[in-house]
This record gives sequence, C-alpha cells and structure tokens, in this order.
Amino acid sequence: MQAAAQAQPNIALVKYWGKQDIKRNVPATPSLSITLDALWARTTVRFSEENERDSLSINGITDPSQLQRVTAALDRLRRLSGETNYADVSSTTNFPVSAGLASSAAGFAALVTAGCSALGADLSAQDRSRLARASSASAARSVFGGFVELQTEQPDPAAQPLLAETEWPLNVAVIVTSTRAKQTSSTAGMNQSARASVFYDAWVDSAPRDFADARRAVLHQDFQMLADISEANCLKMHAVMLSTQPALMYWNGATVEVILRVRDLRARGIPAFFTIDAGPQVKIVSLPGHRAAIEQAVRDTPGVVDIIHSSLGAGARLLGG
Ligand code: DP6
Repeated sequence: MQAAAQAQPNIALVKYWGKQDIKRNVPATPSLSITLDALWARTTVRFSEENERDSLSINGITDPSQLQRVTAALDRLRRLSGETNYADVSSTTNFPVSAGLASSAAGFAALVTAGCSALGADLSAQDRSRLARASSASAARSVFGGFVELQTEQPDPAAQPLLAETEWPLNVAVIVTSTRAKQTSSTAGMNQSARASVFYDAWVDSAPRDFADARRAVLHQDFQMLADISEANCLKMHAVMLSTQPALMYWNGATVEVILRVRDLRARGIPAFFTIDAGPQVKIVSLPGHRAAIEQAVRDTPGVVDIIHSSLGAGARLLGG
C-alpha cells in the first residue's frame, strides 16, 4: 500500500486567479502553463492500518499547516477506492516551498499520482488531473508535461496537454529573489481579490481572450505573440492583486529590477519575457541559446539570491522501487 511519484512545478503564462466554485475548486479563468524540468517534488504515500492518523512531512519536517489540505486529498482517494486506513505522506523538493515556485502544484500532482498507485486505483491522467485540481487548481496542470491548458467550462474540469515539451523546447530561468514563505497564500489571496478588487470582474471577463490568443501562439510557436500576451496577462493579475483591499503585494525591489532588465533584453532583440506568480520570484522564458545573455543581465541585480535554469519537462509519473 505504498507508492512514490515525482511531479514538477508548472509556470502559468495565462494565469488562474479567482474561483468560480470555491467548494469544488474550479477556477474562474482558463489558464495555460509550461511544466518545468529542473525542479521537482518527490512524494511517497503509504497507507497502513498501523497509522493512527494521516501525517505529512515536507523535506524531513512535520508540517501541520498543510495537513488539512493533504487529508482532504487523501479523503478523496479513500472515497474512490474504499480504503479506510490513514496514510503517511512524505515529500522532498529540490526548491524552497511556499515561495511562489508552485510547490503546491508539484506536491499535489505527485501526491495524487502516488496515492492512486498505492491504492491500486488505475485512473487516467485526466482523472488524476481532476483530483489534483480539487486540492490545488494549478496542480491539475502538473499532471502533464510541456504546454498544458486548464479550461473552465466543465463543472469538474481537468487539464489537457496542448503541445509536448519536445515540440517547442523553451528555456526558463527562475530568478529567486527571496526564499521566505509568502505571507498570503494563493488560495487566500485570490478569494480576497474576488471580494475586494474593483478590477476583478474585468480580469475574469478578459481572461478567455488572453487564453485563446496564447493558445494560438503556442500552436503556431509564435514566441513574440506568446511573450506579449504572457507579460500583459501577468501584469494584469498583479494589478488585480495590488488593487485588492487590503493590497496584496507579492513583489520586492529585486522583482521590479529584474522585470526592467528583461524589458531591456527584449528591447535588444533577445527573445525573452518575464512572468511572476504569487511571490517575488521572476521567471524568464526564452528561446534556447540565450542563457549567457540572461545570466549576465540579471546576476548582479541586488537582491537576486539564485538563478535556476530549466528546460520544459514531463508530467507527473511514478517512481520505481
Ligand atoms: C498565481 O493553484 O496555488 O500561481 O487552487 O487555491 O490551490 P489553489 O491555488 P493555486 O493558485 C495558483 C495561482 C498562480 C497562477 C497560476 O498558477 O495559474
């Protein structure tokens, strides 16, 4: 009754921020993401009658703060398989958690994949994506590799692969500007925005257009178009965050400085653009072959603590042994 799985974070280029159905965790906006290769979460799930309760450790430390969400995910797995035992969940990551690097996306995609296998539940990737979405909507996308979409018309949507990572190999540089956990989680932040940002309705109304345009840019491998839509969509989401009362400000000084440096790079003809999630890290997406120029442009920025280079990667998968 034990299995282990690996999943990688994904970075949304058209973002999800806000829910149309809080109970089922269905996003209000369609999203489109790329799954990374270099970062990972590896999660082992073990159901046993010896367990007196569910338990969770992340990078060797017991984490009660996330246990409720993990128990809810395990309950969904138990319901569908008839399992009654509690589970030990232990997860390791090669990147800081809760700092805007999509740790919940990788974590829940790995948890659902390992959990289904531990219980002998042979679910399709689509069904695992649906289950992962119920825990964290961005996790639905990490079930798949490459370019992935999560549409929102269905009452219980799953993500879908749009284009394989091998078809259009982009690079991503993750510019880490802080490793501290963020103060307001994405879940809490987006619910606050829905209640208390005057820009929220405009954000939701304009999302399908951004999504359709980005989808077309991916399918035509039109980097310039994808860059324009992604940067505009990211800044629009941060405008919603900033206009929430009280304001949600996920950036720090280095975040802004790195944005300006990426704009300079683009102005000099380097095919690179930025995107930022609910945290201060900046992800720079580029065509291959520009790593040195990107490094040089950002590495001496005060406040930059690390630069992680990644290509696009595969979806969640079981680990042997
Ligand atoms: C800014 O998927 O973490 O990264 O569904 O409440 O768990 P929950 O939210 P979560 O939100 C991700 C928000 C984002 C944009 C994105 O990944 O699309």
